[in-house]
Amino acid sequence: MAEVRIRGDRLLADLEALAKVGDTGDGGNCRLALTDDDAGGRELVVGWMRALGLDVRVDRIGNVVATREGADPTLDPVMTGSHVDTVRTGGRYDGTLGVLAGLEVVRALDDAGVRTRRPLAVAFFTDEEGSRFAPDMLGSLVYVGGMPLEDALDSVGVDGAVLGDELERIGWAGDAAVPGPAPHAYVELHIEQGPVLEEQGITIGAVTGVQGISWQELTITGQSNHAGTTPMRLRRDAGYAAARVATFVRDLAHDLGGHQVGTVGRLDLHPDLVNVVAARATLTVDLRNTEQPVLEEAERHLRDHVAALADTEGVDVAWRRLARFDPVAFDPAVIDLVERTARGHGHSVRRLPSGAGHDAQMLARVCPTGMVFVPSRGGVSHNPAEYTEPEHLAAGTQVLADVLVELAS
Ligand code: HGY
Ligand code: MN
Ligand code: MN
Repeated sequence: MAEVRIRGDRLLADLEALAKVGDTGDGGNCRLALTDDDAGGRELVVGWMRALGLDVRVDRIGNVVATREGADPTLDPVMTGSHVDTVRTGGRYDGTLGVLAGLEVVRALDDAGVRTRRPLAVAFFTDEEGSRFAPDMLGSLVYVGGMPLEDALDSVGVDGAVLGDELERIGWAGDAAVPGPAPHAYVELHIEQGPVLEEQGITIGAVTGVQGISWQELTITGQSNHAGTTPMRLRRDAGYAAARVATFVRDLAHDLGGHQVGTVGRLDLHPDLVNVVAARATLTVDLRNTEQPVLEEAERHLRDHVAALADTEGVDVAWRRLARFDPVAFDPAVIDLVERTARGHGHSVRRLPSGAGHDAQMLARVCPTGMVFVPSRGGVSHNPAEYTEPEHLAAGTQVLADVLVELAS
């Protein structure tokens, strides 16, 4: 078979062009799921897919799967892909690299005149970030049958919008059925979004799996009162209670150690005024760990702390589960293939778990799945300063190409 060589210059040009959609002016992107900017990103990428002659299908939750014919069309495709939605302070590589690298692999196959035995599918999944509509990886979760379509369409965003309405409004509610057909295998290229590869001077990550994710929203109800006249002993201060939760989450992660992380990313106070003791606080707690028992222990400690705090501060607390995914292990043969392929190109490579959630953790429910990581400068992501060296982008894409060709042959 002719050698399939990707071209980094084409990939960089696509990344540059897509980064202009939802450009935040500081090098970053904001294409929150199902906003007009998300729609703009979708249109641009699907235009490229069509220009490559791929068969494009849009499903009922807006996932897009673009397929390159294989020599034997009766065989299940090998799939790659990721997402094109971003967080509000997104960079230009999170998700987009995986989708655009998939398109670069298609171009490289065309250049080489190679027809893989299996079809090759390049996908992007709806609302991977989950930061507007929870949970994260919502589209791929529906794709694999892990969430009923109706529940996903009914998801209410942080801005009060309803997912199904937004999907209709931007015109991306397709007619392909969900759950979608399980691919033969799924491999996703993604930036690491953490410091490990860069700190160790390693080019390629052979990802072993994804850590467990627990997202909860707490609504703490106290009593608004005058900031000047109310004695401290009479206060039922939701703002204070929320602050005690946030510092507890930090201490909990520190005390549990290991891979445990904890984040309070959202915090809204009502009435949010300088001279009023807060009547209500709404906050989110994101807990993650590679070990399921420790993640469950962290959740227990949080509940106990909040129960004691509610008692002493005289506040009520309502909980809402936004996401809960157990740790996922990727397919050993795919991990081996990624590692072997990277070595074959003379790249330094190491195995590591993913700290971030990815669509791959959902596809792992239905087919052999793996991921390829490339380094993130300073380990920074979900930030306009997100950056990966062009030669690392190209190296990761070439490893992806060779892995996909091997799985599709
Ligand atoms: O939350 C995550 O880990 C991913 O960015 N959706
Ligand atoms: Mn991502
Ligand atoms: Mn992300």
